[in-house]
Amino acid sequence: MKGIILAGGRATRLRPLTKITSKQLLPVYNKPMIYYPIETLVRSGIKDILIIIAPDYAGQFLNLLGSGKDFGAKFSYEIQDEPRGLADAFIVGKNFIGRDNVTMILGDNIFDYDFSADIANFKGGGHVFAKEVPDPQRYGVIEFDEHNNVLSIVEKPEQPKSNFAMVGIYILDNRASDFAKNVRPSDRGEIEIPDVINQYLDRKELKVSTIHGIWEDAGTFDSLLRVNNYWAEKAKQQLNVDIAK
Ligand code: DAU
Repeated sequence: MKGIILAGGRATRLRPLTKITSKQLLPVYNKPMIYYPIETLVRSGIKDILIIIAPDYAGQFLNLLGSGKDFGAKFSYEIQDEPRGLADAFIVGKNFIGRDNVTMILGDNIFDYDFSADIANFKGGGHVFAKEVPDPQRYGVIEFDEHNNVLSIVEKPEQPKSNFAMVGIYILDNRASDFAKNVRPSDRGEIEIPDVINQYLDRKELKVSTIHGIWEDAGTFDSLLRVNNYWAEKAKQQLNVDIAK
């Protein structure tokens, strides 16, 4: 299993914070944001990680993260020249993925959840994760029945068919790169991730699991503030546990 962290994009929603740096380098309590997806992958046993970045602040990522040695991992880098969409991660990452399976995580998705078992048990096809949210129209929306059979996945629908967001981590076999090449740009000009995932669904090779831990897409001022507060609180609780020992 290899890992990809998609950490490009322009993050115009977070201006002026992102005028001179990248969203994924902004602080989340005591660490740069990208540390969280890195730690999610490394904790799950993934050590070979491709980090996809935009050209503008590529040097900052290299200065910060280097070879990956500090994380007990090996990092490779690719530049995504234009933010063509999330599905582009599998095209840019095609050579890196090779014949392996891949877990792709978005650089601004922050989880307090352990994916180790899901990753260790992955056999092929696709495995995606759902979380109930109050504002599903902001996300890829995933509809499934009581037996966790996926019925539909739609990117940012006006009339969501469920309250479950498809969160930004995807465990896929290496057909993801070929499936991504079949995807045509949406009305907003991006190749969308549901159009890759739906190709696994069409072949009845898609699994969904709900996650119960904390998840936040840190792409807005409010969600960025929430994740900062959450991890600050968690660090203090941990400190109290350590002191009590
Ligand atoms: O957070 C989960 C949601 O993430 C999913 O539910 C949606 O299905 C998925 O499309 C995505 O929606 P967002 O609107 O949040 O995507 P955003 O444009 O913010 O991009 C997510 C991350 O990927 C962000 O860190 C920037 C990066 N990115 C984005 C694009 C479009 C790239 O590196 N390259 C790109 O071309």
